[in-house]
Amino acid sequence: MTSKSGDVIFLLYLLFAMFKSTFGKNSVFEIDKDATSKGYPRDSLSNFTEFARNYGYKAEEHTVITEDGYILSVFRIPKGKNCRGRIRQPPVLLMHGLLQSSDSWLDAGPSAGLAFLISDACYDLWVGNVRGTYYGRRNVRLNPDTDAQFWNFDTHDMGKLDVPAIIDYMLNETGSSKLNYVGFSQGARIFYIMCSETSGYCDKIIVFINLAPAARLKYTSSMPILLVIPFFVLTEPLLSSPRELEVFQKGGVIQKAASFLCKDNILAGTVCRVGLTLYNSYDPGSILTQTIRVLFGHFPAGTSFRNLAFYGQNVVSGKFQKYDYGPSKNVEVYGTVQPPLYNLNRTNIPVVLIYGENDVLVDSKDVQWLSTQLPNLIESYQVRRLAWTHLDNCYSQYTNVTIFPKIHEYLQKYSKDGSV
Ligand SMILES: *[C@@H]1O[C@H](CO)[C@@H](O)[C@H](O)[C@H]1NC(C)=O
Ligand SMILES: *[C@@H]1O[C@H](CO)[C@@H](O)[C@H](O)[C@H]1NC(C)=O
Ligand SMILES: *[C@@H]1O[C@H](CO)[C@@H](O)[C@H](O)[C@H]1NC(C)=O
Ligand SMILES: *[C@@H]1O[C@H](CO)[C@@H](O)[C@H](O)[C@H]1NC(C)=O
Repeated sequence: MTSKSGDVIFLLYLLFAMFKSTFGKNSVFEIDKDATSKGYPRDSLSNFTEFARNYGYKAEEHTVITEDGYILSVFRIPKGKNCRGRIRQPPVLLMHGLLQSSDSWLDAGPSAGLAFLISDACYDLWVGNVRGTYYGRRNVRLNPDTDAQFWNFDTHDMGKLDVPAIIDYMLNETGSSKLNYVGFSQGARIFYIMCSETSGYCDKIIVFINLAPAARLKYTSSMPILLVIPFFVLTEPLLSSPRELEVFQKGGVIQKAASFLCKDNILAGTVCRVGLTLYNSYDPGSILTQTIRVLFGHFPAGTSFRNLAFYGQNVVSGKFQKYDYGPSKNVEVYGTVQPPLYNLNRTNIPVVLIYGENDVLVDSKDVQWLSTQLPNLIESYQVRRLAWTHLDNCYSQYTNVTIFPKIHEYLQKYSKDGSV
């Protein structure tokens, strides 16, 4: 060995050691019981029930099992801390977006997080989670760490199996025959898929309120998304081990590094804010630095590689259609060369669309197209704040004046005073 290659090997080893001490076990990123003393905000380390309790809200934890064995934690705030009246009926289900979890509805704190606002308005609020997030990383048969099959899903399965299981559970638990649904981005996408692919579930919802629904994604223009799409679409068929098939999980390198850096007030207001802006576009002052410090404790929350490839396919094709296996396998699976479109006609219950003009992930042109496909559209509402971005729906400090009044208007219209 020449001394030169010896130097290179030594350098590589040094880099490896640094990487390991930064990201590995017992590293500075390791989050443990004293993590708050390392500067992590308490809320970023809290799970849903703890976070709610931090602000005096009582939350319940429920366990829902899907037909194919996925075990999902679903949370309920039966009565908001500031609800002074009777609880209205029916119950409301609030569903998070891609790479988020139920906790995203708390991250903006009690004056802006929609889980706080909706429960304070006296609705029996249930907050769902889908498979692949840290609240949906269990299965009665499959082990997410060793069974590749666990990760063989995308939003199709969430719509066909996760949402119906949560609905069945809620209706059984509350004794109600119907419920109302509020879905953000993927949370709306999976509702349309449910209506298209199941029978009898769509009718169990009285009103379906959409925040930036990710159905067709023809005009998505977020630069980081457009850059990584080819990677996800082309690589997906080549992967096979569970370690590769799970992506952006909580506790993974990306989430750990993001929560480590962004817990710092200065970095949160600069580096992390710029990162969010690149992904999400810019709405000055809308997302508080404190919210940025907290949200990366819960974001990204994990999904399957296949799900990201599925989104990528939809952006490339410009169509709201099923997973594309390629011509020959499509014929085998669907009986057609092209994957079938989801049938939006089947979402025939009252629908309200709420969207922002500055949303680069779900473009307003795609929402307008969606509005022309729906047989029972009640209102398509453009948020009055022109800079309103995608993630503002969860994390803005202004939700109480921008989107909540519209959500409340329709929840109220389609519910009535109940008991309790
Ligand atoms: C949330 O934290 C509490 C402890 O405060 C724990 O009992 C509960 O199991 C946790 N829930 C989940 C879903 O992690
Ligand atoms: C939300 O806005 C309403 C009306 O402006 C106000 O009465 C209420 O206090 C606000 N709620 C929060 C949590 O800020
Ligand atoms: C329905 O709820 C009851 C208790 O209220 C419970 O015993 C039963 O297992 C539930 N059934 C299903 C299918 O969840
Ligand atoms: C939806 O219904 C309209 C009117 O009945 C029809 O023209 C259209 O082809 C339907 N679309 C689908 C996808 O079934």
